[in-house]
Order: sequence, then structure tokens, then C-alpha cells
Amino acid sequence: MKIVARCCTPVLLCSLVLLSGTAAGAQSAPAPQPAIDAGLALTPPMGWNSWNKFGCNVDEALIRSTADALVASGMRDAGYQYLVIDDCWHGQRNAHGDIQPDPQHFPSGIKALADYVHGKGLRFGIYSDAGTKTCAGRPGSRGYEYQDAAQYAAWGVDYLKFDWCNTGTQDARASYSTMRDALNHTGRPIVFSLCEWGTAKPWLWANGIGQLYRTTGDITDRWEGHEQYTQGFMNIVDLNEPLWPFAGPGHWNDPDMLEVGNGGMSLEEYRTHFSLWAMMAAPLIAGNDVAHMTPEVRSILLNRQIIALDQDALGMPGHRIRKLGDLEVWTRELSGGNRAVVLLNRGATPADMQFTWADLGYPDKLPATVHDLWKNTTVTAHGSYAVPGVPSHGVAVLQIAP
Ligand code: GLA
Repeated sequence: MKIVARCCTPVLLCSLVLLSGTAAGAQSAPAPQPAIDAGLALTPPMGWNSWNKFGCNVDEALIRSTADALVASGMRDAGYQYLVIDDCWHGQRNAHGDIQPDPQHFPSGIKALADYVHGKGLRFGIYSDAGTKTCAGRPGSRGYEYQDAAQYAAWGVDYLKFDWCNTGTQDARASYSTMRDALNHTGRPIVFSLCEWGTAKPWLWANGIGQLYRTTGDITDRWEGHEQYTQGFMNIVDLNEPLWPFAGPGHWNDPDMLEVGNGGMSLEEYRTHFSLWAMMAAPLIAGNDVAHMTPEVRSILLNRQIIALDQDALGMPGHRIRKLGDLEVWTRELSGGNRAVVLLNRGATPADMQFTWADLGYPDKLPATVHDLWKNTTVTAHGSYAVPGVPSHGVAVLQIAP
């Protein structure tokens, strides 16, 4: 028997893999590897989730029509590959303890639905909870982790969002590790999305357990402010931004799903929401009615240059480097020595804003092109760059290439 130390990530997170040989010298099948070794989520996952728009009003017709719309709208081809059903798909467990879908809303069963979604060139995701019940009171996976994981794999599930309601005194790291092991045991690569709301600081331990982990409570479709247990997206930005050093390929800070297109904000605010998610290298999980979205909403979700910013291969999230009242400058290091800059105006009136090459770590005289990712214009500059009239609640998103 040989013991091999295996480094899974650029940081010092190692696991031991046991390789055993038979008397004849043939090796048995290797133990299932941590999902991260399968190269999952080397860039932030992209897809769609039912919760923000539809809540518990989910059924198989909605999922099928959403799959159709993800293809027809061009979203699939732009990278939105995971179609995830959130809470409320569950019925009861059968006599063997196997989880069943709600027979009224999912009469054809989950396998048939996953097959349909796969047939559209998409990947299929599902939701459960580490506790005894989900947040909406459906059966949770506590005590059924291996059974549920095996069931999901048999259905063809590619992504699991795992919530944290009704967990009592459970330890978050231990509970999520159990489900990670159960998923790995299936041998099927399944992206594991931890939804623990940041309570136990998952950015400190979730690398190697899941590929994305919620850093905050739930988002709601407004600029800022608190509403019951939810909060506006700028509140979430302020909580997620300082965590930028902890995220990277295979382990992403998740500031929750997108509200773009859900009707509570202006298009300007939705552009800002989408831009900041891309700047923070957040998962881009659309949460709107994609079968009925306006062309303006579609053009935000399908801005390929903003998507490319989110998906930059270096995988280093951007962060705020300056704040003067309502005016903020954010920078992000990109692959190939490039940089991204966001000029964010949180105030009520338009503002002239600028940044310097020193902000980017560039020498003053270095010539570079500055490309505006929303206006799709390019100029050459050196030393500094100014944008007149950044709109109220708006952004300029710039890519700087020496
Ligand atoms: C929690 C999660 C949400 C959603 C709901 C479903 O609030 O944070 O994203 O999954 O549960 O009940």
C-alpha cells in the first residue's frame, strides 16, 4: 500500500490518497477524489436558480420552459450552464427513506427532468439542507447524506446547493464535510454550493469542501436596506468585498444569486449589480424569469465582456481601493498583466471620477489601452484616466491592457 500526499489547491490543503495493489500487481480502482480535483469551478459557476423569482412556485413545466429559454436567449452559450431547482421540489421520503419529488408538481420525476435539461446542453442542479428540514419545511438531508447523494447521482444531478436551516447545534464544517464525502462517494462530479450564509465564516474552511460558499444572508431585489432576513445588494457588497483574499479557482465567495431583471431596481442599478458581481468573481446565477425578460435585461445578463471579467482565468477577485464618500474605485488583477477598474457612484447625482496608473501598480509612463466594457469603446492612455459623469447608482467598468 502506498500513501500519496495530494495537494488539491494552491494553498496548503493536502489529503492522503491510499493506493493499494493486488498480489498480481494490478491496482484497484482509485478512491473517488475530492470533487475539486475533477477541475470543477475553476472559474465562478454560472447558471440560473429558481428561488429569487419563483420561491416555492416551482414545477416541472417551469423548469422545462426555463431550460428552453436559457438556450433560446443565448444564455447557455454565454456560459450559464447550471439550471438549479431551489427549495420546494421535495415530496416525502418513501418507506426505504429515499427522497421523492413532490408528485403534484414533478409528476414525471427528477430523472426525466434532468434528462430534459441535459438534452438542452445544460447541467442540472438541485437543493437540499444540512438540517432536518429545508428552510421551507421540506425534508432535509440530516442523517440521509449518503442516501441522498446516491439518489442525486442516479438522477444525473451536477450541482447541489446545500442550505443551513433547522440545523440546531450541528457544526457547519463537519456537516458540510459529511455531504462533501457523500457526494465524492458517488464518483459523479457534482459542484457543491454551501449555503450557510457566512455565519461560521466558511471562507476560512470551505476550500476543499465545496466550490462556492455563501458569505452573507439572503439578497433581495433592492439597492440597499434590510427587509426581514434579506438585504439589498449594496449591503451584501459591503459584507462580501473584504473577503476577496480568500476566494480563487475552485473556491468562490458567493454573495448570493442575481436579482437582475426582477423588477425592483432600475436598469442602471442592475448594471451596477452585475458589474460588481463580475468584479468580485462571484458566481453568476441568474434569478429572473428568463422566458419573459425584456431585451434590456437580456443585454445586461448577456454582456460578454462583463462575463469575461467575472470568468478571468487568474481567478483573483477585485476589491475596493478607495472610498471618498459615495465614490469608490475598485481594481482587479487579471490574467496577462491586465487590470480591471470599476468606478462606482453610490450617490444621488452624476460624478466625474478618475484613477491613476499608481492605483494599478503600473509605472506612470506605461502606455495602455482603456476599454469601457459597457460603452464598448477603447482609447490609449498613460498615467491616469478620467470618466466624466458616472451616473447616480452607476458604474464605469474599464479594462486596462498595457
Ligand atoms: C435560504 C437560502 C435561499 C433559499 C431559501 C429557500 O433562505 O439562503 O437562497 O435557498 O433558503 O428556502
